[in-house]
Amino acid sequence: MAVGRASRLLLNRCNLVGAQGPLSRNAVVGRFGFREICNPYIDVARPMSFWRRSQTSAIDPVSEKAKKASSGKPGDNVTNLVKDSESDKTTSYWGIPQNKVLRHDGTTWQWRCFKPGDTYTSDTKIDLKKHHVPDSYIDKIALWTVKTLRWPTDIFFQKRYGCRAMMLETVAAVPGMVGGMLLHLRSLRRFEHSGGWIKTLLEEAENERMHLMTFMEVAKPLWHERALVFIVQGIFFNAYFILYLVSPRLAHRIVGYLEEEAIYSYTEYLKEIDNGHLPNVPAPAIAIDYWQLPKTATIRDVVVVVRADEAHHRDVNHFAADIHVEGKALKDSPAPAGYH
Ligand SMILES: [Fe+2]
Ligand SMILES: [Fe+2]
Repeated sequence: MAVGRASRLLLNRCNLVGAQGPLSRNAVVGRFGFREICNPYIDVARPMSFWRRSQTSAIDPVSEKAKKASSGKPGDNVTNLVKDSESDKTTSYWGIPQNKVLRHDGTTWQWRCFKPGDTYTSDTKIDLKKHHVPDSYIDKIALWTVKTLRWPTDIFFQKRYGCRAMMLETVAAVPGMVGGMLLHLRSLRRFEHSGGWIKTLLEEAENERMHLMTFMEVAKPLWHERALVFIVQGIFFNAYFILYLVSPRLAHRIVGYLEEEAIYSYTEYLKEIDNGHLPNVPAPAIAIDYWQLPKTATIRDVVVVVRADEAHHRDVNHFAADIHVEGKALKDSPAPAGYH
């Protein structure tokens, strides 16, 4: 009996390794080619075909099975699920069905990292100029911390806004995950509700990560930039983790000011595109799907919606800090769920 179970587990493991090996190699080579140059000006010198080839978000071919499963009616917004073809399947010991998501037009939904229900239209009318005037020594510490952090990034990136956006999004996606995780643990530890803040902060982290997935289609990191991300993540994650334990108020205020700086940086990015200093290349396919942009959207449209996202993060984090200023816990004030 034990031998039979062991052989089943071994067989299962072999299947998983066999299926995931090539996928992993493709993902690494396709997404992080070392020959790519992290320079937003590169697209001016190279033909558009190169840029298109360098994208990892090429549209999947439409499967015949998917076409048959779709109603094919125009305006049909219902997303259907059909089983993958036999060749696409990973043999699963656990009998987990591998479904393929379809768009309303019958083509395959190509993204595994998010579903059609995760997409949204960004509210670009949000006030971009709002600023929290520091009114306590904690606020002043938060503001000067952010201003101090901005100084080395300005020197390092200068006007390479595509590269700057990609690199800084690797950091921006950390606070929401740390805050959400700590609130999750607190909820478990104290047998109490979270007021929706766990989900809101985790959604912020996911939204920031999608910013990264978008910008890495435009600017690819060089080896030393990847090494820098590795080091900065190790330092920043631990520093923010400890800070959130000690003073969640200061942690949220710092993120609020970081988001204000992000709005400024993306505004500068837009100015460079509008002045013709940066090429207004077609938007990556992942961005078109995630923000429900028109197929003709450009990188300028992407920067506009990303900047709007940052403005929403600014409001959420300053709001969270204000709740602490009033001496309350986050759970005492419902989280702004779905605030995009
Ligand atoms: Fe972001
Ligand atoms: Fe943000």
